[in-house]
Amino acid sequence: MTQLKALYAEMEKFFQPLWPGEDKPLVFGEGRQDHPKIMLIGEAPGETEVIKRRPFVGKAGKNLDEFLTLMGMKREEIFISNVVKIRPTEVGPTGRLRNRAPDKEELALFTPWLMKEIAIVQPKVLVTLGNVPLKALTNPKITIGDCHGTWMESKASVPLYALYHPASIIYRRALAPVYEQDVLRLSECLRNESTIPKINK
Ligand code: URA
Repeated sequence: MTQLKALYAEMEKFFQPLWPGEDKPLVFGEGRQDHPKIMLIGEAPGETEVIKRRPFVGKAGKNLDEFLTLMGMKREEIFISNVVKIRPTEVGPTGRLRNRAPDKEELALFTPWLMKEIAIVQPKVLVTLGNVPLKALTNPKITIGDCHGTWMESKASVPLYALYHPASIIYRRALAPVYEQDVLRLSECLRNESTIPKINK
């Protein structure tokens, strides 16, 4: 068994008893597991991700494709995961389940496992999408509006590049060119690795 499979088996054992009677399947990371250039980290899976048990395959998958096109990379070249591995839901006004942002308790439960996942995958850089993974891996006081398109030190001792969550662009169209610029800058940095800051381990 690979180290990553062993970690995911350990997670199943840990999380299964936490929510008895509730259907909360875990959606794990996927992609290149041995030192990929990029480990992309989202917030949490949505409805389609839970059905398919794969990250970024629903609407977010389309956003991911745009990111990959701008980067000139293929999905298999990078590792893709989320901070929270269950779908956080709430009941909406029509009585249907809808997505919500992960709460403090979920973040506290899942972040240590994300750290272990990063330590196994050992990516060259972390790319976070939106506030949730950014705050989990740096500092809860930092916000994406202040540091998108910049390099940060992460708690995982891997350089972190912050991007807006592509889904947020659907609600704030003015962010689209900003997001694109940020992705192109990341692509440029990866082509010229001396521009990626060194992190003291
Ligand atoms: N789907 C995911 O897997 N992650 C996100 O952050 C959003 C949608």
